[in-house]
Amino acid sequence: MSLINENFLELQESYLFSTIAKKVAKFTEENPNKKIIKLGIGDVTRPIVPACLEAMHKAVEEIGTKEGFKGYGPEQGYEFLRKAIVENDYKSKNINIDMDEVFVSDGAKCDCGNIGDIFAQNNTVAITDPVYPVYLDTNIMSGRKIIYLPVTQENNFIPELPKEKVDMIYLCFPNNPTGTVLTKQELKKWVDYAKKNKSVILYDSAYEAFITKKDIPHSIYEIEGANEVAIEFKSYSKTAGFTGIRCAYVVIPKALKGYTKEGKEISLNQLWNRRTCTKFNGSSYIVQRAAEATYSKEGKKQINENINYYLENAKIIKQGLEQAGFNCYGGVNSPYIWLKVPEAMTSWEFFDELLQKANVVGTPGSGFGKYGEGYFRLTAFGTRENTIEAIERIKNTYNVT
Ligand code: MLT
Repeated sequence: MSLINENFLELQESYLFSTIAKKVAKFTEENPNKKIIKLGIGDVTRPIVPACLEAMHKAVEEIGTKEGFKGYGPEQGYEFLRKAIVENDYKSKNINIDMDEVFVSDGAKCDCGNIGDIFAQNNTVAITDPVYPVYLDTNIMSGRKIIYLPVTQENNFIPELPKEKVDMIYLCFPNNPTGTVLTKQELKKWVDYAKKNKSVILYDSAYEAFITKKDIPHSIYEIEGANEVAIEFKSYSKTAGFTGIRCAYVVIPKALKGYTKEGKEISLNQLWNRRTCTKFNGSSYIVQRAAEATYSKEGKKQINENINYYLENAKIIKQGLEQAGFNCYGGVNSPYIWLKVPEAMTSWEFFDELLQKANVVGTPGSGFGKYGEGYFRLTAFGTRENTIEAIERIKNTYNVT
């Protein structure tokens, strides 16, 4: 008899974005003539940037030759990409990260979930609420004790330090779903807490490219000493159009230690390297060449255009919703707009109403956690035309023109 991992029975029946996709599919089936605009899951709509496309074409040609053919690549990622990451994402900000502290992967979602492999199941994990469901669900799957840190209007969507001692802390800034950011001083508090408590911060900075305000850290390693307490996740998905291409990376500094039950220090970098070599064969050569091209002069320019395009969408959404009388947060240093749903409505009721009346899809706040109830998330990753139309429809639905 093969026993199951019963922790799975503690999960919601379906992953948030799968539930939404099912609801939308049903609505479409019942209303085939309605044009639905999807501002739900944060999936980009602008095609992969030309510099990356060109690099991929070149790589495809290359592997078709006897000399250029590539078999298994290094599990940690090709040196050319790791070098480009270190130089462009860190050295340029005066942050010292070595190439062997960078692990290239097939997505930050997978990394944020898989990282749990190297941590004990009886660790206590702190998670903000509302939160990107991957952190929560993967830790439920592992059976870890979870401490929720509410982020609400009352605390300006900035989590407070846990009252008790926790071993692992997930932070995501610019935040998904609320769109808020932390200043250096605020982030430093977390680094200090982690140092004091020997905890590890799992820092998801997938949206750092959307930061517009000065003095907001783009990397947790901008905080002194963070390399002793933090793992950082980065992604190419939302910048260069890689949601379908799949490429990301995780940084695990060598100074970062975990502990055995006896209190012996163990390098988390070594554990992750061991795990990676065992379970992963690396992201494909073609994709890694594309990721490398994000750091070329052209690539950087094209990505910048993408970011500005999506930030302009965010502005259109935020302004339009405010005109329609909604209270909105985020959308300035982030592609996500977090809005308060009308009084006396739940997030899912608002989701249904918006789908039925405006044919616009968003994400109900309660899908991100208990404290997300009463809120709703819209993404700026749609096309400009759809974004404008969606906002017009929402204004019309709520009687504002
Ligand atoms: C989201 O909508 O929260 C993100 O697109 C999900 C993801 O990046 O996996």
